[in-house]
Amino acid sequence: MAGLPFDQRDGEIWYDGAFVPWAEAKLHVLSHGLHYASSVFEGERAYNARIFKSEEHTARLHESARVLGFEIPWTEAQINAAKEDVLERMKLSDAYVRPIAWRGSEMMGVSAQHNTIHLAIAAWEWPSYFAPEERLKGIRLDMAAYCRPDPRTAPFKSKAAGLYMICTLSKHEAERKGYADALMLDWRGQVAEATGANVFFVKDGKIHTPTPDCFLDGITRRTVIGLARDRGIEVIERVIMPDELEGFEQCFLTGTAAEVTPVSEIGPHRFQVGEICKTLMLDYDALVRQEPAGLKAAVA
Ligand SMILES: Cc1ncc(COP(=O)(O)O)c(C=O)c1O
Repeated sequence: MAGLPFDQRDGEIWYDGAFVPWAEAKLHVLSHGLHYASSVFEGERAYNARIFKSEEHTARLHESARVLGFEIPWTEAQINAAKEDVLERMKLSDAYVRPIAWRGSEMMGVSAQHNTIHLAIAAWEWPSYFAPEERLKGIRLDMAAYCRPDPRTAPFKSKAAGLYMICTLSKHEAERKGYADALMLDWRGQVAEATGANVFFVKDGKIHTPTPDCFLDGITRRTVIGLARDRGIEVIERVIMPDELEGFEQCFLTGTAAEVTPVSEIGPHRFQVGEICKTLMLDYDALVRQEPAGLKAAVA
């Protein structure tokens, strides 16, 4: 499916404070981040040349690093400005933005107390795929074999590369069986999330979603909960057991990449793409494309 591989594209990448040609944004094979997964990242989207919730993503990036025991040597303000520079330099309007921080090469072992912390920010065109007919049919999810780990096993509050190992395995297995993605349970057997998105269900006009106590409390998740509550729709965060799936009428995923994506199937369970799901898809789309009030006033 893919076009040009990601290491061979045109443009520039912000790398440790300076722009470097895209193909030269490399790291050494003896980097701690590669061997021991000491890396944290963000996935962000720009709509109409504005990064949605840019500051929140940067705050999470800083916090993710802190949870892994390192400090990114650029302030949140510097990172926010660098992301803007990347978009401008790459002349991007609807884009995906990927900041990543990792431990460098000074020490090569489990301990890496004094390794340099690197930061890179890349962005590429990624038009929103909102509203194509296919997406409104809903996507099909497999049940993943791997579970989200116990918080005593892995630092789940960090958007850390290492936590994605079981996501890639689960997604590959789902794709092999013809599904788009997989629903993961947690270590207690409770419904958790998809491999790169949070999950919501609808029943009797109310929204139910798992409490994020061992998986990422997504920025889109929180945004969509706010949108639903603004419309007077009750949102209940609670423990959801897999045997409840049968009783839910609608299901959707949320995430920066997924936005609001309806789900039509999870294993043997079927869901409609109903009104609440469609309303939140539209509300989310309207919100991310909204121009900031200051900008609106300035151009009026
Ligand atoms: C595992 C996982 N859960 C949830 C999310 C949704 O997070 P957000 O809405 O902040 O993009 C993501 C995407 O970053 C993810 O990778």
